Amino acid sequence: MAAGIAHEIDNPLTSILINTHLLLEKLEKLKKKDEFYENLSLIAEETHRCSQIVRGLLEFARQSQTQKTNTDINDLIEKTVLLLENKASFQNIKIIKNLKPDLLLILVDRAKIQQVFWNLMINACEAMPNGGQLTILTDLSRDGKAIEIRFIDTGVGIFPEHINKIFDPSFTTTASGKDLGLGICYGIIQQHNGAIEVKSEPGRGTVFTIYLPLEKIGIDPKGGH
Ligand SMILES: Nc1ncnc2c1ncn2[C@@H]1O[C@H](COP(=O)(O)OP(=O)(O)OP(=O)(O)O)[C@@H](O)[C@H]1O
Ligand SMILES: [Mg+2]
Repeated sequence: MAAGIAHEIDNPLTSILINTHLLLEKLEKLKKKDEFYENLSLIAEETHRCSQIVRGLLEFARQSQTQKTNTDINDLIEKTVLLLENKASFQNIKIIKNLKPDLLLILVDRAKIQQVFWNLMINACEAMPNGGQLTILTDLSRDGKAIEIRFIDTGVGIFPEHINKIFDPSFTTTASGKDLGLGICYGIIQQHNGAIEVKSEPGRGTVFTIYLPLEKIGIDPKGGH
């Protein structure tokens, strides 16, 4: 809905902005930089500000729409690891991939799930400032209803008093706070009807596990998806 309204407002705003600028140009040509000119400039500035807000809303709406496609999770992991291996902070970290071959394709928003993998790997890396090992594991879940993806690091771990807060969007113990936080990751996994769990031992390491359900496509006898 926000996207629809934002789009409707964007057109008249652009028209106001263009016409205000035309009037400003006319006054400039007439060398009339009087109080009308000042008022018109203010209108132009404020309209521009509205336009920025509306564009921000449109961008947000675009990001929050999910576009699910059939995806090979192992492939997505490989792609994310390739991107990360070039980062300097990953030079001391040994990445072990234990990816179950021939996993079924699942319906996910590839970009969003990749963002989740990216954040979990960056977090693992930040937890191992002096190097360590990151094991990435994929498998069919024990009940056969989901794909399980596990990120196991040998980092600093998370204190028990912090563990319930880490999915809180405002919680951070690092100075950066600029990446996509675990709060957003949690939201993305929920949008996929999945689950994300964490287990940690301070001083030893952390395990994040994601479950993404295998959705039955068009074979549900009740007719649903
Ligand atoms: N693998 C991990 N090992 C130890 N602590 C972790 C790990 N992953 C997350 N954390 C803890 O959870 C907090 C929240 O993580 P989150 O990704 O939401 O934010 P951040 O990494 O601090 O900031 P940002 O991702 O925005 O740069 C971290 O600050 C850290 O304390
Ligand atoms: Mg992070």
